[in-house]
Amino acid sequence: MKILVTGGAGFIGSHTCVELVNRGYEVVIIDNFVNSSKRSLDRICEITGVMPILYEADVRDESVLSEIFGEHEIDCVIHFAGLKAVGESVAMPLRYYENNLGSTIALCNAMKRNSVKKLIFSSSATVYASGAEPPFSEGSPTGGCTNPYGWTKYFGEQIIRDAARAEGDWSVALLRYFNPVGAHKSGLIGEDPQGIPNNLMPFICQVASGRREKLNIFGNDYPTPDGTGVRDYIHVVDLALGHVAAIDYLSKNVGESVFNLGTGKGYSVLEMVKTFERVNDIKIPYEIVGRRPGDLAVSFTNTDRSAGVLGWKATLGLDDMCRDAWNWQKKNPNGYSGL
Ligand code: NAD
Ligand code: UFG
Repeated sequence: MKILVTGGAGFIGSHTCVELVNRGYEVVIIDNFVNSSKRSLDRICEITGVMPILYEADVRDESVLSEIFGEHEIDCVIHFAGLKAVGESVAMPLRYYENNLGSTIALCNAMKRNSVKKLIFSSSATVYASGAEPPFSEGSPTGGCTNPYGWTKYFGEQIIRDAARAEGDWSVALLRYFNPVGAHKSGLIGEDPQGIPNNLMPFICQVASGRREKLNIFGNDYPTPDGTGVRDYIHVVDLALGHVAAIDYLSKNVGESVFNLGTGKGYSVLEMVKTFERVNDIKIPYEIVGRRPGDLAVSFTNTDRSAGVLGWKATLGLDDMCRDAWNWQKKNPNGYSGL
C-alpha cells in the first residue's frame, strides 16, 4: 500500500514515515520545507533503510498533486502540512488561512479528481472550546478558538467533513493531537524549532544544552495542584503509531471519525521540569513569570474512544518523553542545520 504524506519532513511527519515504513507501507512525501529540513529524510533512511519518494513542492500546487496521483496509486493520504506557530498566526493571520486552508482544499480537490478516498488530518486539541471541561472527549464543545492557527484546524476539519459527506464514500479520520513531545529513540530525528521555541519541551531542552539561560514558567496561580498549567504530553512515536492505527481503521470504516490522541494523563509544567531533571540528571533553572495570554489551565483527553474504537493506546510515559527529547537534543544541538 502507498501512503501520501504531506509535511512528511516535519516533526510528527518524519516519525510517522518511520512507523509507516516499519509497517511495510510505501511512503511518498510532499513537503516545501517551509519549516523543516531535507536532512530529516536522510535520517528516515538511516533508521529504516528506505528513502521515501519526495516531491519538493507546495501542497497548494494542484498540478504537482495531479502529477503525484498520476504517478502513484495512492491508497491513503495523511495531511500534516501546515504552519503551526500560534503567536505568528496572530501576527500573520492571512498567511495561516491561505497556507493551512488552501492546502487542505487543494488536497481534497485532487483526491476527488483522482478517486482517492482515504484521508487522515492533523487536527489539534486547540479546537476544544475554552469553556469545555477536561478531560475532553470527542463530543466536547468546539470552537471559540483564541487564535487564527486554532481556527485553521477548526475550519480544516469542517472542510474535510463537508467534502467527505458530499462524496459519500470517503473514509476520513480527524485526529486531535494533545501535546506531542519526545523523539525517536535513535536520536536521529526529532523536533527542530526555528528561533526561540514556543513550546515547553524544546525550550527545556535548549536550557539543558546551555543555549538558553533559564526557563520562564508562565504562571503559578492556575487552579491546579502546584499552580502551573497542566497538559497531556504524548510521545511522538506513540502519536505516529496512532496514524498507523487510523489507516487500519479507515480500511474498514466509511464516513468521518474524530479521535483524540493523548495519554489521558495531565502533568504540570513543574512536574515536567522535575521529571526532566531526574531522568537526565541535569538542573533546569527556571523563573516564574506572568501567565501567557490564551493559555488554558488544564488540558487532557478522555481516551475511551481512541482505545475502544480506534484500538490504540499510548504506551510510553513521561520518563521516556524526557529521555528521548534530550537524547535528540544532545546528539543534534543545532537540530538539522548543524549537520
Ligand atoms: P512541522 O512544522 O514540523 O511539520 C509541518 C511540515 O509541513 C513541515 O515539514 C513544513 O515544511 C510542511 N509544510 C507546511 N506548509 C506546507 C505547504 N503548504 N506545502 C508543503 N509542505 C508544507 O509541524 P509538526 O509539529 O510536525 O505538525 C504537523 C501537523 O500537526 C501540523 O498540521 C500541525 O498543525 C499539527 N499539530 C501539531 C501539534 C504540535 O504540537 N506539534 C499539535 C497539534 C496539531
Ligand atoms: N510553558 C511555559 N514556558 C514555556 C513554554 C510553555 O511555562 O516557555 C507552559 C505553558 O504555559 C503551558 C505548558 O507549558 O502551560 C505547555 O505549553 P506548550 O506551548 O508546550 O503547549 P500548548 O498546550 O500551549 O500548545 C500546544 C501547541 C498548540 C496546540 C496545543 C494543543 O503549541 O499548537 O498544544 O494541541 F494547539
